[in-house]
Amino acid sequence: MNEPLKVAIAGLGTVGAGLFRALQVHGDLLAERCGRQLAIVAVSARDRSRDRGLNLKNVSWFDDPVQMAAEAKADVVVELIGGADGIAKQICETAIAHGRHVVTANKALLAHHGLPLARLAEAKGVVLAYEAAVAGGIPIIKALREGLVGNRLQGVYGILNGTCNFILTEMRRSGREFEDVLKEAQAFGYAEADPSFDVDGVDAAHKLSILAAVAFGCELNFKSVYTEGIRHISALDIGYAEELGYRIKLLGMARLTDDGLEQRVHPCMVPLSASIAYVEGVDNAIVADGDFIESAMFEGRGAGAGPTASAIVADLSDIARGTRLPAFSVPAEKLAKIPSAPMNRHKGPYYVRLMLVDRPGVIADVAAILRDENVSMESMLQRRRAPGEPVPVVLTTHETREAEMRQALEKIASLDTVVVAPRMIRMITLSDASEQTNR
Ligand SMILES: NC(=O)c1ccc[n+]([C@@H]2O[C@H](COP(=O)([O-])OP(=O)(O)OC[C@H]3O[C@@H](n4cnc5c(N)ncnc54)[C@H](OP(=O)(O)O)[C@@H]3O)[C@@H](O)[C@H]2O)c1
Repeated sequence: MNEPLKVAIAGLGTVGAGLFRALQVHGDLLAERCGRQLAIVAVSARDRSRDRGLNLKNVSWFDDPVQMAAEAKADVVVELIGGADGIAKQICETAIAHGRHVVTANKALLAHHGLPLARLAEAKGVVLAYEAAVAGGIPIIKALREGLVGNRLQGVYGILNGTCNFILTEMRRSGREFEDVLKEAQAFGYAEADPSFDVDGVDAAHKLSILAAVAFGCELNFKSVYTEGIRHISALDIGYAEELGYRIKLLGMARLTDDGLEQRVHPCMVPLSASIAYVEGVDNAIVADGDFIESAMFEGRGAGAGPTASAIVADLSDIARGTRLPAFSVPAEKLAKIPSAPMNRHKGPYYVRLMLVDRPGVIADVAAILRDENVSMESMLQRRRAPGEPVPVVLTTHETREAEMRQALEKIASLDTVVVAPRMIRMITLSDASEQTNR
């Protein structure tokens, strides 16, 4: 058998401890499959005295993970500490500078510094691998970069954040409001004490920017991802969505358009004819549209110790077998510089909910604004009558430009009969939701 692949792990939290266990549980299996052992030689975490249920007897302990990246006798350093900057970045840069491969699950780091890190890795002839950074256990990076290499991809979109998907699923099932279900998600450990990265869409935006770079072979551009979270979604809107034949999902969508690369993360009304509408709970799903495959959907667990460790082990196995691929589909200097499509040029149908004082002429005022702003209404729904009281009125539009929709909503909001700011949710069309279902 060949020399073992020597692995150093920085961070022994949820993912690091999961990886440690996975490499122990499947040591023999992996040695057989890779033709060599994957041997943990060094680890680092903050608190050495903490009982992690791991047998650390035969591995070197480093209090300082940067020192470990420089000095441990390792072929690969696995960064599992987290954070866009600071120590995680230093670990990766140091490991690469010392000619060691880097594996990370850190989407924030990649979204902010993926391109310079890929350049550094290429210059040093080492691998930068990050399967675990996007959609946990779903091997989506491998699928896009290798399995679908024979396609020109036009779009990639999906449910990229399990916390948001859990919250939206529970809101729909129970009829409860966002804040209430968020508390439950925190109690289950599906949401952090500070949930903003997840519920404000930032985590999904990190992942989307990585997916877009791999799918389109372009420079990673996190800053231009339009990002909107789920805090403003109410039980009322979820109920109306159901009534109209839709489910509300937080989607990340990247698409090549005539205006450039569109990257957006926001809640979407997804038609029940699309498979992705049925991806529930903490699961993730990603759909890739390619010229030869048409469309393929990948679904599974997006986070957690087991699925994330599984993805990291896949990266380590690739390195052990000698697979050497550029981080983002093509070498860094060949990555395309695609201009970003401004969000106000986005075109699609919209769902709008208004709280209107029920009195004669209000609907005519709204309709006049829509007409003036070139917004064509598809349907209008008013379930309740309560003269003089605010009632919900829901309307959907035909395909409309974002800029015109926003302009119309601003004017509608200023009517004295509109008592709460209008709620707007973008709808996706059947052609957007390319993967259809028979369910
Ligand atoms: N959790 C998931 O399901 C998941 C899924 C996909 C990707 N990820 C990514 O994986 C990474 C790790 O996430 P996690 O959930 O495993 O985090 P975690 O449970 O908070 O673990 C972080 C680990 O880093 C160690 N650490 C923190 N600061 C350190 C320092 N200055 N020096 C040495 N060690 C330090 C901690 O040490 P102590 O244990 O001693 O405190 C801990 O072991 C993040 O980038 C995250 O985004 C996580």
